[in-house]
Amino acid sequence: MHQTQNPYNIRELKKEEYPLLKEYLYMSVYVPKGEEPFHLSIIYEPGIALYRDKFGELPNDYALCATIDNQVVGICWVRIIDGYGSIDKDTPEFAISIKSEYRGKGIGESLMQAMLKLLKSKGYKRASLSVQKENYAAKLYFKLGFEVYEDRENDYILVYNF
Ligand SMILES: CC(C)(COP(=O)(O)OP(=O)(O)OC[C@H]1O[C@@H](n2cnc3c(N)ncnc32)[C@H](O)[C@@H]1OP(=O)(O)O)[C@@H](O)C(=O)NCCC(=O)NCCS
Repeated sequence: MHQTQNPYNIRELKKEEYPLLKEYLYMSVYVPKGEEPFHLSIIYEPGIALYRDKFGELPNDYALCATIDNQVVGICWVRIIDGYGSIDKDTPEFAISIKSEYRGKGIGESLMQAMLKLLKSKGYKRASLSVQKENYAAKLYFKLGFEVYEDRENDYILVYNF
């Protein structure tokens, strides 16, 4: 079982906390092993920026966060956009990142499960995401029940059927 020193809570990300998505989007971009971290400006590249631009203004925007001592330590958010992991105009695409010092403690898995529950309650039929094949996050998604929708050269598009 996973254990954290301080218990974490999961709740909706508040509107005034949306600016945090800038940092969390940056953290969510996978850096292949042995490579230098990307420059911060990567979040302004159009294909990446659309995961965050005007978040909260599209009808299918949802964000949950994990907090410890009321500080946000992880965010999982979804939108329907033309992203790396999008499959159609009805299917929200996941993004997630946990602050590095809080990874590996079960927080990411709990956040994903909470978002899946929320999306199910909203009546979505499917959810999707893109993950680099070598990113250990893929293991988490398979464990949660995501399945391969498209097998590309370096990444998968995974889908979760509710
Ligand atoms: C990927 C990420 C969201 C997972 O969140 P987390 O809180 O670290 O993960 P959890 O502790 O909940 O672990 C869940 C599962 O993920 C996998 N996992 C987590 N850390 C792992 C590691 N260091 N090595 C291998 N597998 C790992 C395991 O399958 C684990 O389940 P298990 O412990 O029962 O084997 C988080 O590590 C992160 O923010 N990474 C950087 C950003 C990123 O890659 N985002 C996803 C882009 S697609």
